[in-house]
Amino acid sequence: MDGCPVEIVIPEKCRNLDQNEEWIKIVTDDGEEIVRLHDYGRFYEIPGLYDNFYKSLNCQSPRVVCETLKNQMARGGWQKQPVRVLDLGAGNGQVGEMLTRQLDCEAVVGLDIIAEAREAAERDRPEVYADYYVMDLANPTDEALNDLSRWNFNTLVTVAALGFGDISTQAFINAYNLLPDDAWVAFNIKDRFLSDADDTGFSETMKKLLNDGFELLESRRYCHRLSLAGNPLYYYVIVGRKNGAAD
Ligand SMILES: C[S@@+](CC[C@H](N)C(=O)[O-])C[C@H]1O[C@@H](n2cnc3c(N)ncnc32)[C@H](O)[C@@H]1O
Repeated sequence: MDGCPVEIVIPEKCRNLDQNEEWIKIVTDDGEEIVRLHDYGRFYEIPGLYDNFYKSLNCQSPRVVCETLKNQMARGGWQKQPVRVLDLGAGNGQVGEMLTRQLDCEAVVGLDIIAEAREAAERDRPEVYADYYVMDLANPTDEALNDLSRWNFNTLVTVAALGFGDISTQAFINAYNLLPDDAWVAFNIKDRFLSDADDTGFSETMKKLLNDGFELLESRRYCHRLSLAGNPLYYYVIVGRKNGAAD
């Protein structure tokens, strides 16, 4: 893989695994190591590995979510308004970087559950985030919520971080409830998690958000990335505006 800092081996038996079970072998000076694709901490620790590997799988989601948000903001006459964004599940900052390039950002604040993500963002994209929190919003303290509230966010973005044991429905709702009415919300989610067969709770959460007044502006199915076998993995991009708290 061009530009990749380590040698990557994809054994044949990895090509038929479910998305959250996929793994690869990396070869470093210390020898061979098995790394699950969802072991983000290990990916972030090796400079360039996350960006290059997901690029090789044709990952489109940061671009698709940011562009869809930008287009909807433009339609709503918002292209000149400064945005204060919470980037939930920010990782090493790909999304934050795109937001700062595409929108008039007054502040982009990152939040991730693992310290390796903040360390990688500070290493790879030190100019992007006004602040970066390492916490889980599933069960936040009042102090944490007060601290986040002072940013007066008017936009919530979360890319490739919902479901699969990553950001829970409660953490997402707690982030959503940090926003005032009219705030912009942009995220993506695997298509299956919005279907009737969903058991992650996101399908139910989406219905509740809509009942509670979420104004859905765009929802579109697209190819998030390729699996290790080269098959497309489909997600929905969803962009809308908050209109009432969620419970
Ligand atoms: C696939 S990465 C996406 C990173 C970034 N949004 C991007 O598109 O490049 C998923 C990220 O969600 C983070 N994450 C998982 N559970 C989380 C939680 N409960 N709260 C915040 N972040 C979480 C992971 O640590 C990881 O950095």
